[in-house]
Order: sequence, then structure tokens, then C-alpha cells
Amino acid sequence: MAYEVTATKKRPQTFDELIGQEFVVTTLKNSIMAGRIAHAYLFSGPRGVGKTSAARILARALNCRKGPTDKPCGQCPSCQEISRGNSLDVIEIDGASNTSVNDVRAIKDEVLFAPNASRYKIYIIDEVHMLSHSAFNALLKTIEEPPPYIVFIFATTEVHKIPATVRSRCQQYTFRLIAADLTKEMLRRVIDDLGLDAEDQALFWISKEATGSLRDAYTLLDQVISFSDKEITLDKIREKLGVVGIDQINKIGEIVISGDKRELIEYTEQLLNTGISVEQFVIDLTEYFRSLLFIKCGIRKESLLSFPAEAFSGEIIEFFSTNQLETALEFFLTLHRNLKFSLNQRFELELTMQRIMDLKALITPAEVVQEIRKIKAEIDSSSEVGSVSERERTDSPLPDSPLPHSPLPDSPLPDNLSPDSPSPDNLLQDLSGAVRKEKPALSTSIEKVDSWSLQGEVLTLKFRAEDRFSGEHVGNERETILKFAGSILSSSAPTRLKIVFMEPKAPKKAKYEQAAMVKNIFRGEIIKGE
Ligand SMILES: Nc1ncnc2c1ncn2[C@@H]1O[C@H](COP(=O)(O)OP(=O)(O)OP(=O)(O)O)[C@@H](O)[C@H]1O
Ligand SMILES: [Mg+2]
Ligand SMILES: [Zn+2]
Repeated sequence: MAYEVTATKKRPQTFDELIGQEFVVTTLKNSIMAGRIAHAYLFSGPRGVGKTSAARILARALNCRKGPTDKPCGQCPSCQEISRGNSLDVIEIDGASNTSVNDVRAIKDEVLFAPNASRYKIYIIDEVHMLSHSAFNALLKTIEEPPPYIVFIFATTEVHKIPATVRSRCQQYTFRLIAADLTKEMLRRVIDDLGLDAEDQALFWISKEATGSLRDAYTLLDQVISFSDKEITLDKIREKLGVVGIDQINKIGEIVISGDKRELIEYTEQLLNTGISVEQFVIDLTEYFRSLLFIKCGIRKESLLSFPAEAFSGEIIEFFSTNQLETALEFFLTLHRNLKFSLNQRFELELTMQRIMDLKALITPAEVVQEIRKIKAEIDSSSEVGSVSERERTDSPLPDSPLPHSPLPDSPLPDNLSPDSPSPDNLLQDLSGAVRKEKPALSTSIEKVDSWSLQGEVLTLKFRAEDRFSGEHVGNERETILKFAGSILSSSAPTRLKIVFMEPKAPKKAKYEQAAMVKNIFRGEIIKGE
């Protein structure tokens, strides 16, 4: 017997064999049994989900010698003729190749003749959206008020292309995608019928690939059977069709956890070298991260996952946060969009793989919010404390300073500065100049003094916070400083030195630091700071 592809061999012959379209089936059955037969039906839905099959079943149901019945017998001449496709009263027209107004006029003329040997004369017009505008117009009158023995069944994958005028004259039935688990079940039946063996994962993969079209699933199965020789395994599929298996992708996840960039790039190359296309690889990774995300949210439904839930590595599910998985998914979706325009798809993939490596470090929005709350609390508390405590903190002397710390007045030159000092205005300059020869580094540090004052015998040098190093340097050279200062300020020679560090106003500084932190978290830029 001639080889027949599975899709046609398995064409459903009764409503009960039409799977996954319960709503359509129940409604059709009920209306047949109630004798409410419409003039025109419009079956719409994705490819390969049973529209043409349903149209033929409906034709048989209407014309079965024992009917109209929701269970066509399949034995009577009418049922048999329709199955073989040679019934004179069931006319199948391919809308794609009969698009003109003349084609439709021919139909209009024909409908005037009563059926040959059956109850109804049924026109099944497939791909009806391909008809031209004028052809549709020519049809309108006929489908609105055809002779009572005429039934039109239109089928289309693109219902939005059917003019509303036509749609409103039809009973419309929307066909749905077939769920992956149901598809897998159907594939299993075919495998059993053929006496073959198949790994569950292999059938799972095929049903996923079919994306809801049972015809696609059967066609792919035929192809897989042709190279599989008795036993169908995912490994064979991977080898022949270039797809990434779950083990390989799990390994990628594990490498990301390990943080070894080199290994990730090398492993990617190894997989690509087995013949997987970059695009397929990206699709597989996208589905993988999508599935991980679902599993993380507690979803185990097979039809939503790219592989059975048990196949995903527990370690990976545990390790990544929902947010990190979302980000990975976003990376790969973007990558897939970019591939089309890429100079080199492989470079794009490698770049994304590098980025995936940083996934571990990704901070979650919840953490960001927490961080911001903390910062806010800090700002609030520091502005409440105010300037007094600020100064208290500021004026601590160097650890080895002989002086207890005493608050400094804000003015750099207090009133009681010895007025008869030779050139107090130039003290710092003179001091720096005097030590330069002996200690050039110290001279530089003295230049960093922000302001100075002399109270009795105490010489105070004030440094800005950022000049702490210079201040400490000067503090360590106490004797030298006092010696030279003494000679410059001769009459009021200080005997003690006090080093003080100023701090920028605390809230301001805190604000700056916090702004920097926020900037880092969001990887942004500070545009304006005051
Ligand atoms: N709901 C279903 N139940 C059982 N088998 C189905 C179903 N849908 C599709 N099939 C299988 O797929 C084959 C193709 O189905 P059918 O021709 O009815 O799809 P269609 O919706 O008309 O697709 P297209 O839009 O591409 O014409 C059938 O022969 C059958 O083997
Ligand atoms: Mg069809
Ligand atoms: Zn019959």
C-alpha cells in the first residue's frame, strides 16, 4: 500500500475524534440534533487544528443516510463518498486558487441545481480569506438567502481578512491551538500503532515544536521516524535536527553559577559546532529561562514548559531569583529581535552570554527599594541631629595631639590672634617657604592648610577633610612646625599645635554619597547635584 503521511491517515472521521475543540464540537452537535442547520458556517483558527476536518465531518453529519446526525455512520454511500472526496454533493473549493469573481459566479449558478443524491449540497471553501473583494461581494447575496438545500462551510486562518458583511451572515466557530500535552498524547498513540518506541522527552519536544498545530506535530513526527529507526530519542533528534537538549542548557546554567566566563564561551562554541544555528540556540535558551521562571513561580503544567519540570536542574531553580530569570529572559528576547539585523549573529550571542554571567550580581527591585528606604532613614536622622553634633565629631584632634579637643570658632582668625605677629596674613606662606628647603614634602602639606588661628600659645591649623593625609603629616612634624612658626610669629611663639579637620556639612555629604549609591544601583548618571 502506498505510504500515507500520518496527518492524513489520522484525519478525524467523527466529531468525537476531533480533539481539543470541545466548544466547537458540542455546539455543532447540538445544533444538528436540534435541526438548526445554518446556511453558512465560518471556521477560523490557526493552521492544522482541525478546520478542514471539522468541515468534512459536518458534511458527513448532514448528508449521512442515517442523518442528519451528530454521529455519521461512516458506512453509508454518502459517508464513504465524502471520505474518499468524490461526493457530487460536497464540493471542496480551494479559496486560494479560485479567488476571482468569475469563480464565485460559477458557484452562484451551480447552487440553483438541487443536490444529486443527498440531503444537502455543501460547499467547503478553504482559505476563504484569499477571495478577492469583488468575489466576496458576489457571494453575499447567495450566502444570505441560498436555496434551502445549500450549506456553505468556509475555513480560514485569517478571519480578520473576511469582510464583516460576510462574517455577519455566517455562524462563526473559532478553533483553538491544541495543547502540548494533548498533542503528545496523540503522538504517543501513533507511535503505539506503529509498534515503535519513543522517549517521552522526544515526543514532548515534538509537541512543543508544533506550537499547537497537530498537523505540524504529525509531519515532524514522520520526519523523526524516518531517521530514527525503531526508537525515537531526543539525542537522535538533537543530532539530526540541531537542537539543544535540556542537559546542555542545564549545563549552561551551571556554568553561569560557577562564574567561569571562559568556560561559558567555550561551551557555547562547542554546542554551535555540533550544527545548532545561533537562532535555534537563542530560541532554546529563551524557552529555557521562560520555563525556569514559571517553575520558580510554582507552575508545573507541561503545556507551559519547554521540557518536563523534572528535567530542570534543581540547583539552578534554587540559585536564581525570579528577577534574575526575568532579566535573562529579557536578554534573550532582545537578542532574538536583534539577530535579524546583526553583522554577526554569533558575536551577538557571545555578548549576551557574557552578560548572563553577571546575572548573579543582579540586585532585585525589592532590594533597591529596601536600600532606598535605608538611605532615606539615614538622611532624615542626619538632618535631625543638626550642626552641633557635626562639629563635635569634626573637631576631634589627632590621636597623639597633646591637647584635649575644644570647639573651634568658625572664623579662621579669632580676635585674640596676636596682632603684633610679623606678618600673620602670610603665616602659612612663610611657614611653607621656611620649611621648603629642609622638608619639601612638609612644605606642600602646609600649603593645604585651609585656615589657622592662634589662641594664647596654641596654634591651630585647620584642614579640609579631603586633606587628611596632609594634616596628619603636619601633625607628625609638630616640632618643626612650632620651631618655624615660633620664628615667624616671634613675639607670640606658640608652644602647642592643634590640627583640626573640617568636614563638609554632613547631610550634604551623606546626600552625595547616597546619590552615588542610587546612581550605582540604577546604573545611571547624576545630572545635577546641589
Ligand atoms: N482537532 C484535531 N483533532 C484531531 N486531529 C487533528 C485535529 N486538528 C488537526 N488534526 C490533524 O491534522 C491534520 C490536518 O487537520 P486539518 O486539515 O483539519 O487542519 P486545518 O485546521 O484545516 O489546517 P489548515 O488551516 O492548515 O488548513 C488532520 O488530518 C489531523 O490528522
Ligand atoms: Mg484546512
Ligand atoms: Zn453515513
